[in-house]
Amino acid sequence: MYTADIRAAFIDFFRDKHHHVQPSASLIPASDPSLLFVNAGMVPFKSYFLGEQPAPFTCATSSQRCLRVGGKHNDLENVGFTARHHTLFEMLGNFSFGAYDKKQAIAYAWEFLTEKLKISKDKLLVTVYHEDKESADIWQQSIGLPKSKIIACGEADNFWSMGETGPCGPCTEIFYDHGPNVDGGPPGTETADGDRYVEIWNLVFMEFDRRHDGSLHPLPQRCVDTGMGLERISAVMQGVHNNFDTDIFKKIMQATQALSKHVPLTTQRIIADHMRAICWLIVDQVRPSNEGRGYVLRRIIRRALRFAFSAQMEIPCLYKLVDAVIDEYSFDPHMRSEQATIIEVLRTEETLFSHTIRNGMVMFEQSLVDAQNKTIAGDVVFKLHDTFGFPHDLVVDLAKEKGFNVDLDGYEHAMAAQKSRSRQHKKFADTADSMWHIDGVTDFCGYETNTCSSEVLGIYSDTQGACDNLKAGDVGRIVLQKTPFYAEAGGQVGDTGSLRSDQGYFIVQDTQKHRDCIVHFGVLSTGQLQVGDLVEAQVDSKRDPIKKNHSATHLLHAALRAVLGTHVSQKGSLVSADKCRFDFSHTQALTKDEWNKVEDLVNQNIIANHPITTQVMPIEKAKEMQVMALFTEKYDDEVRVLTMGDFSQELCGGIHCKYTGEIGVFVIKSESAVAQGVRRLEAITGMRAYRYLQLARNNQNEAQTLLQAHTDDWLIKLADQHKKLKITEKALQATQVQATQAKLVKQAQASKVKIADTDCVLLALPSELAADMRLGMDGCMQALPSSICVLYVAQKDRKFGLAIGIGQTLRDTYNAKTLFQDLARNMGARGGGKQDYAQGQLPVDNPQDLHKILLDWLHEKIEG
Ligand code: SER
Repeated sequence: MYTADIRAAFIDFFRDKHHHVQPSASLIPASDPSLLFVNAGMVPFKSYFLGEQPAPFTCATSSQRCLRVGGKHNDLENVGFTARHHTLFEMLGNFSFGAYDKKQAIAYAWEFLTEKLKISKDKLLVTVYHEDKESADIWQQSIGLPKSKIIACGEADNFWSMGETGPCGPCTEIFYDHGPNVDGGPPGTETADGDRYVEIWNLVFMEFDRRHDGSLHPLPQRCVDTGMGLERISAVMQGVHNNFDTDIFKKIMQATQALSKHVPLTTQRIIADHMRAICWLIVDQVRPSNEGRGYVLRRIIRRALRFAFSAQMEIPCLYKLVDAVIDEYSFDPHMRSEQATIIEVLRTEETLFSHTIRNGMVMFEQSLVDAQNKTIAGDVVFKLHDTFGFPHDLVVDLAKEKGFNVDLDGYEHAMAAQKSRSRQHKKFADTADSMWHIDGVTDFCGYETNTCSSEVLGIYSDTQGACDNLKAGDVGRIVLQKTPFYAEAGGQVGDTGSLRSDQGYFIVQDTQKHRDCIVHFGVLSTGQLQVGDLVEAQVDSKRDPIKKNHSATHLLHAALRAVLGTHVSQKGSLVSADKCRFDFSHTQALTKDEWNKVEDLVNQNIIANHPITTQVMPIEKAKEMQVMALFTEKYDDEVRVLTMGDFSQELCGGIHCKYTGEIGVFVIKSESAVAQGVRRLEAITGMRAYRYLQLARNNQNEAQTLLQAHTDDWLIKLADQHKKLKITEKALQATQVQATQAKLVKQAQASKVKIADTDCVLLALPSELAADMRLGMDGCMQALPSSICVLYVAQKDRKFGLAIGIGQTLRDTYNAKTLFQDLARNMGARGGGKQDYAQGQLPVDNPQDLHKILLDWLHEKIEG
């Protein structure tokens, strides 16, 4: 069975059993900050397991792309060296949110494996959690598995957790026995890591929610979460012992071989695995960077390149394999449509890394020189890794080739020290969060109004957490029963303003959301404030420019798609009173023409004065209407659709103008790159934009007056004057150099000495000529054609520039290059030249002695 057939058979099997078929979600977990990547099929359903949201179906099935790099489940370093570890893999799963429990889940799994896939029952055995007697009984009594094939294991093997926190529970795992020809023992034994018994399916019975402090809290209901690695079951079905020998990897590995003849098998496997992860990460909008998800992508690319580099493949090379990966996922339209972006992002990153390797190699070579006892120091390896992104295993490989060792303990030590620094940072953040325990639901009335009266429900002082009141000067957080303050979300900053009671005045400096609660951050400037007080909540006037900037951001998004193409998707935004900042996927800088077109289109739609309307509707309906939504956002079942005429339609919970005309005017102030494949525009609106244009006009008038120009020719005049200024500056410089040269020649003539009948000049060069010693020497040689001339000038780090010139009539007798070589041999000079002229650098410990040292040397060379 081909991999694609197994995937289809699995989904069909559960569809027939009335499971909702859920397409694979993005690798970026929607609104789940506890997780870097989707690392299991259950992640998109997490809130249903925890009971945070009611599940819209009672059972579901999916084939979910997962990434296990970083965090609790990290397989990166194993990839290529074992038969079945991958960075990216697909997880086939069935899930129940109350529809069925252990017995049915086990029965389904058994039926699929033994009846649908027709795997021999003799080849299967299972593990159960040692405290889960119920599962052991089901396997024995309902399924009829002999007791010898039911192995009880502890928490490490049979208690599954999503991460440090989140849903978890006991599990039962189904293993396939590849037969006695393959090494390895059954699960629970010391040799279980071998390849003979392979876990193919994990059935987790979710019972608990693990909190930050490690405590387990029962879930509202027991759920089922099963996961079967598609690549593993493919290996079983295709009768191979290594996942990389299955059809899904073969073509990518063949494509690697086509690039270079001698690519070792492990390297082919690593590259094939990593290419799948790289392509999916880029499709899911991750871009290489130095932190978070972007760093993981960068690490994977660099690991692949490290192996490519060691296999003497010519970098960049990975981007040439993209088509082979896309072919494997032809059933998924996402990947094909992102082909050009994947290639562009990958090629750029590869080119960057080729520089990294080059730069890192310079430091690496230096580390060999500095090595003591033929061992490269640990902190040097760490620095190579930290500064140049030069992986430590590459250092080990290269060092080995040169017969050197690497102090890996020292490297680990430096690494651990860095980790501990960042852990301390995280711990601080955790404590700050758990101190608050803010709870409740706030009624938000900010779409309709800037002001309302409300009761104070909760007060939290910055020093004690929850409390009853604040006194003048106290910094704190206030929760109201109802508020017009918008809490920071979707790029829009939190509102600022005031809460005024009979006795106190609280200045709101920021507003943030905490679960369903809107929290006002600020300081009580006068009086006092108590829980239960009635306050007048007033959002300040910044709300108006914020609204304008937010509405303009939507117009900008639509205009960018219209001008640059529909590949443009939002990668981030910031909407404040000062500006809107919009990050979007696009690989090149905007041309002047594109910039103007985008600006034109936004302003045309402002002038058109479209009504801005909102409509709340079920997400499904919004999807049908193809409303623009963010790929990585998680939306509620009911969404707010914001429409601006027929120009823009987006899901948005933010605050907007009523008509586009209120935006007034829109100006893009800057365009830049944020990360690879991501551009950033910063724009302004309303009075701020108007003032900006006014200032530009005033500056232009000023420039016209200064240039005595009329109307439009001022720029030409400015350019003309600029050109003239450059010419004058150059001429002035040349005159200054000539004057210095003439002064030098005079000094040379005056300081000429005879050494054994040969005229010699030894002179410090004026610093004005330091950058061009040759120029100084040419002057001397013309004026003194029968002299040997030595010029020196101080540079940095106790080094001197040094030039030797041989006058016209002495060239049969003396040779500048030979003299310089003598300095190199005896005094460590570096450089060289020809018979008439040589130049280089001389290290000098005592600069005050240099003149005398060089004079003695000249005597020795000439007197012989
Ligand atoms: N969540 C479990 C796993 O990833 C089963 O799906 O193994």
